[in-house]
Amino acid sequence: MDHFIYRYGALFAEDVPVAEIAAAVGTPFYVYSTATLQRHYRLFDEALGFADHLVCFAMKSLSNQAVLTVLAREGAGMDVVSGGEYARAIAAGVPGDRIVFSGVGKTADEMRMALQGGIRQFNVESEPEMLVLNAVALELGVVAPITVRVNPDVDAKTHAKISTGKKEDKFGIPISRAREVYALAATLAGLKVIGIDVHIGSQLTQLDPFEAAYRKVADLTEQLRADGHEITRLDLGGGLGIPYERSNSAPPLPVEYGQLIERTVGHLGCEIEIEPGRLISGNSGIMVSKVIYVKSGEDRNFLILDGAMNDLIRPAMYDAWHDIVPVVEPAAGVEQQRYDIVGPVCESGDTFAKARDMPPLAADDLVAFRSAGAYGAVMASEYNSRPLIPEVLVNGDQFAVIRPRPTFEDMINRDSIPEWLGSS
Ligand code: LLP
Repeated sequence: MDHFIYRYGALFAEDVPVAEIAAAVGTPFYVYSTATLQRHYRLFDEALGFADHLVCFAMKSLSNQAVLTVLAREGAGMDVVSGGEYARAIAAGVPGDRIVFSGVGKTADEMRMALQGGIRQFNVESEPEMLVLNAVALELGVVAPITVRVNPDVDAKTHAKISTGKKEDKFGIPISRAREVYALAATLAGLKVIGIDVHIGSQLTQLDPFEAAYRKVADLTEQLRADGHEITRLDLGGGLGIPYERSNSAPPLPVEYGQLIERTVGHLGCEIEIEPGRLISGNSGIMVSKVIYVKSGEDRNFLILDGAMNDLIRPAMYDAWHDIVPVVEPAAGVEQQRYDIVGPVCESGDTFAKARDMPPLAADDLVAFRSAGAYGAVMASEYNSRPLIPEVLVNGDQFAVIRPRPTFEDMINRDSIPEWLGSS
């Protein structure tokens, strides 16, 4: 459920007509709904009500400071994967003891930054990383709280590029070697083992891969406890999927996911952490774009938009489906037209949808890409020298630009000409 719905014949973002935002900021742009962000965060928070828990928002999915501030005010923790994300969490007012640091390639500088600024835990992904973290902690005279991310070798049944829990993936330590690695951790004075971490992939639309992984984690918890380790926290990762194609998909709800967690690991008495990104941010955002031309090809019609793959790369990168809807509500029963929906970038990969049935559209009409809040703006680039598009936040009947559109000068002036090239 989200707060982008038709009212009085037009698409609204909460209580603001989308066309009004387009008139104010120009197209294309992203717009996020505060109420949807809050609602999805709270669904997870309630779903874990059976245990001590923390919902850590995976900010890689959407990291605008205003969005982080909304979630921080809700009490969310943050899952960060870089020094930049750590800095964003701190800047949004998230206390260090609500920040978890994930990722296979944390550098010593990033570790230092987090140990000095405050950290809830590092999710350690390899022995070399463990040794570096130990050395950094000892150098600073502190003890780093850690979990070890285990790779349970479970097929997440999702797109290959976003599956992370199979043995061929680069993530985590094979669960079969976990006891050995925990034994090593216990000998390192700079580390304190507090739990286990697992994350098997993203956009999971079924619960059984989670169930398989969490059962393995439950068994491992008991084994590690028997080995003498204190396991008090389980970080169960993110990954719950969203209905990108609304007419034809209904992934499990957070409440069902919470019940699964309770069923598989609830008896262990651990504090539960999760790291959802997409389910909180995905349906909280849309990307709005304008039709530049309708072009008739030999055997198809192209809808050429002013938004492109550099603004929303998911269709090009993962063959992802996004529902695309006109901002003016189509009349009931209107005859659909079939379009290939594309952007202006100079490669055929700049295609958002092929043979998509849409109400008839003409130049200057606005369309909205649904479910574009997650992995949209954060993955954008300036390819083809198209400046990053603005982000807008709506709250009830108010809206604000939370990242302005750079001018061409802004974009050009980030580059500099070496002295040896001289001035023209
Ligand atoms: N925790 C870890 C360790 C992760 O690697 C990820 C996502 C998450 C949490 C959050 O997963 P989520 O709840 O958002 O599924 N760019 C891709 C998705 C990449 C996901 C990477 N890791 C896409 O657009 O589909």
